[in-house]
Amino acid sequence: GRIHHHRFVVKSSSYTRLCSTKKILTVNGKFPGPTLTASRGDRLIIQFHNKAKYNITLHWHGVRQPRNPWSDGAEYVNQCPIRPGEKFTYNVQLTTEEGTMWWHAHSGWARATVHGMIIVYPKPGTSYPFPKPYAEVPIILGEWWKKNVMDIPGNANKTGGEPILSDAYTINGQPGDLYPCSKQETFRMNVKHGERYLLRIVSAVMDENVFFSVAQHKLTLVGTDGFYTQPFQTDYIMITPGQSMDVLLEADQQSSHLYYMAARAYSSAFGAGFDKTTTTGILQYGRASDHSSSPIFPRLPPYNSTQASTEFSRRLRSLASREHPIDVPLKVDTHLFFTVSVNLIDCRGNSCKGPFGKRFSASLNNVSFVQPSVDILQAYYHHIRGVFEGNFPRNPPVKFDYTGKNLPDNLLTPDFGTRALVLEYNASVELILQGTNVLASDNHPIHLHGYGFYVVGWGFGNFDPEKDPLGYNLVDPPQETTVGIPNNGWVAIRFRADNPGVWFMHCHLERHQSWGMSTIIVVRNGDTAQTRLLPPPHDLPSC
Ligand code: C2O
Ligand code: CU
Repeated sequence: GRIHHHRFVVKSSSYTRLCSTKKILTVNGKFPGPTLTASRGDRLIIQFHNKAKYNITLHWHGVRQPRNPWSDGAEYVNQCPIRPGEKFTYNVQLTTEEGTMWWHAHSGWARATVHGMIIVYPKPGTSYPFPKPYAEVPIILGEWWKKNVMDIPGNANKTGGEPILSDAYTINGQPGDLYPCSKQETFRMNVKHGERYLLRIVSAVMDENVFFSVAQHKLTLVGTDGFYTQPFQTDYIMITPGQSMDVLLEADQQSSHLYYMAARAYSSAFGAGFDKTTTTGILQYGRASDHSSSPIFPRLPPYNSTQASTEFSRRLRSLASREHPIDVPLKVDTHLFFTVSVNLIDCRGNSCKGPFGKRFSASLNNVSFVQPSVDILQAYYHHIRGVFEGNFPRNPPVKFDYTGKNLPDNLLTPDFGTRALVLEYNASVELILQGTNVLASDNHPIHLHGYGFYVVGWGFGNFDPEKDPLGYNLVDPPQETTVGIPNNGWVAIRFRADNPGVWFMHCHLERHQSWGMSTIIVVRNGDTAQTRLLPPPHDLPSC
């Protein structure tokens, strides 16, 4: 493979959106940040220089980073923060991934503006498993706050309530013409009649799943999270924070019209406040001046349509072809079961605006993740004691009716700790992620670093260990790096623990991650040199 060198300077830059100008964190002054392109098997060397006044780390979301968690970038998990003025070189080896991924800051809420796309093309001499598109169009979905995003988690922490809602969703950094002062800069996609386009869609949205659709144009899904899928036609997609989707679009409609592409929230969480606004871009045939009428609006599913969400997800299948085979473990030797809950804890001092005068928290298996003061990878590698414990529970502390109405009160309060789940090298793992109704149910997009896993099954209510495995798809389950747990439901994922290291796993809803809905998975070294963790780089920052 080739080696691509890049310089990423994080700094504060002025941007104007929604009628006001503010400073945001950017990479090289760009928002959204620069797109990285490479071919399968290439290496990205990114020299990172922090010229902002905040601690920042960068994560290469969806990249496997074989044996090299040193470049995975989760703050206090894989590395100490890169402090203002400091530098660090990320060494990102691409291996099995092919398609669309992204990079983002992994410090506080910085990823709201510090993010960009990673495009991995097929190896030279090979091609897409679908008809060659005429052109490719990157589409990053995001959220915009008028306030400084870096203050949001801290402010929420002070009150104990929910973090403030965003002021707009965005398409390629633009809110679109349904928002004030946004008409001129609305994202426009120019197409040629009769041609085929590949939309590379990434959700950098912070706090909601979204539906996305293009008026009157059928979409054909061909990939998710850097893995090819069996193509299927659909009017809309449902995409969670963290996910990416590749879709083909045929420009075969009347060229005299303008067409909106639009995204808005899919939220089934009862009672939760969320941003109900809609972001738009415009698809146009030829030049804009040829059109006078207003754009046609797409039929987006209603914001709470779990039916639309599940109908879409149900159709996802791995391509599972000879060129793109899958390797789902058929036998499992390590069974894990994690409950995924939002919790409440007592307020310490100050005013508290959460429900019942308490404050929000969140947990996996009733353990709420506490960020250590030295990164876990370093502690693991150098056997530094007292940073984390290797005893994250493999099952919930008590069995209960996870999705029922009257849940035991004591589960409302989680335990706190920095606990890692330790897996043997090459273990064949099945992990059930069980949503709960402990405080309220929600869709949780769970992301695992360092792995692409197979989604072999999912459903609503409590997972039934007798019946549900009978319905697993072990033939062509979709491969993903972020999976949405249905509201009050479960997901079963499988993977082989063949990437040694320290890997973060967390809900990609930023507010839930801030509340501790995270854990660490440590995968031990294998016996051979090729199955061991690589040594740390020389310029690793210290804490
Ligand atoms: Cu996209 Cu740990 O993150
Ligand atoms: Cu969540």
